[in-house]
Amino acid sequence: MPQAQGRIPRMLGGFMEWVDARFPATETFQYHASEYYAPKNHNFLYLMGWLATIVLVNQLLTGIWLTMSYIPSSDGAFASVEYIMRDVEYGWLLRYLHSTGASAFFIIVYLHMFRGLLYGSYRKPRELLWLIGMVIYLALMAEGFFGYLLPWGNMSYWGAQVIVSLVGAIPYAGPGLMEWLRGDFLMSGITLTRFFALHVVALPLVLVMLVFVHFVALHHVGSTAPDGVDIKKFKDQKGKPLDGVAFWPYTVTHDIHATVVFLFLFCAVVFFAPEMGGYFLEKPNFEMANPLKTPDHIAPVWYYTPFYAMLRAVTYPLFGVPAKFWGFVVMVAAIAIPAMLPWLDRSPVASMRSKGMLSKAMLAIFIVSFLILGYLGTVAPSAATTALAQVCTVLYFAYFLLMPWYTRVEKTKPVPDRVTVP
Ligand code: HEM
Repeated sequence: MPQAQGRIPRMLGGFMEWVDARFPATETFQYHASEYYAPKNHNFLYLMGWLATIVLVNQLLTGIWLTMSYIPSSDGAFASVEYIMRDVEYGWLLRYLHSTGASAFFIIVYLHMFRGLLYGSYRKPRELLWLIGMVIYLALMAEGFFGYLLPWGNMSYWGAQVIVSLVGAIPYAGPGLMEWLRGDFLMSGITLTRFFALHVVALPLVLVMLVFVHFVALHHVGSTAPDGVDIKKFKDQKGKPLDGVAFWPYTVTHDIHATVVFLFLFCAVVFFAPEMGGYFLEKPNFEMANPLKTPDHIAPVWYYTPFYAMLRAVTYPLFGVPAKFWGFVVMVAAIAIPAMLPWLDRSPVASMRSKGMLSKAMLAIFIVSFLILGYLGTVAPSAATTALAQVCTVLYFAYFLLMPWYTRVEKTKPVPDRVTVP
């Protein structure tokens, strides 16, 4: 690792030398920022990681402030959210920053993962970076689920009831697991307080640690280029990649510009459409949880609905085990199968720009079926929507399960030696 050199103004030299002798400050800054190079032809999809970091900070800060006024009990929860919205100074803003942040997080992370499918970001040597990402995705889904119950609204209550009861469908261990998760025989204040502890303490700690590990893995293997070029191949006399730009100050400056655009969009939603027509904050959730009254139609928040639609698409029992269990299996498999991508993709090239028509067509079908499933998960089930959900579920899995075949047989284009700047 290079000695203490760099751009830090001479005037701080003495102080920095004192620090560096006791803590690798300059070395770490150089390794992760001023000497860390990313391809110079990154497009807007490569901004999602940075924006995900911004939203993570937003969720942590607004979450801490909301916790100062929130009461984690079945008697006090709903009223305390009302109190935050009406009486706490700028409480409504904190709440909307947090609820909009949750949806923004998933929009950004889905685009971040889509970028991975498009440019093969899961391929060697980034398999572990992708797997860490998948664990982050699972932790985010759990964090969203536990947080969803906290307002103790009627949709929160019944939505959590549906998901928790799925665990109950697991043969033999199910009922015990369900009771353990609920902490009671029914969804109650005990369930609420344990979900509170998981949402406010356990999962944020896990997420922050995972994101730190994600950065370390990323800076060890480096970012991909959209055209699949490895920028480490061509370096100048000083060992700097010819097709790369240093993270500090270039990428950071570039990302600040994108952050401003993002914050404009984010604030537009927070101030003018925080419910987003019921997709970000559902109407039934403005009513307190009522164990005696189910909402007309129980549906989770939009970022879970593709998987919820797949769960409901399984309507046949198998081997004497009810359809509910097989639906649960399909749902879990659908969430987990992207983790297998590094081993399913057998193409000689990484980027969709060099891959053949089969890969392009399968990815397009995959995205369309995922979006259709997303919509189907928000509407009440009917024979027609169930049939469509079954077709889309098959197409969703076909993208992964047929990948070893179509990525091997299709004709690909050669990868350019140097990056192509648009
Ligand atoms: C809290 C959530 C997350 C944060 C803060 C985060 C942060 C980042 C950042 C800053 C980058 C570099 C810039 C970029 O390429 O966008 C990155 C790259 C990457 N992330 Fe994430 N990430 C998150 C979730 C995920 C998830 C869920 C996955 C996959 C399932 C993932 C997989 C990757 C991969 C494979 C790369 C390298 C991409 C490439 O160079 O092609 N990340 N991440």
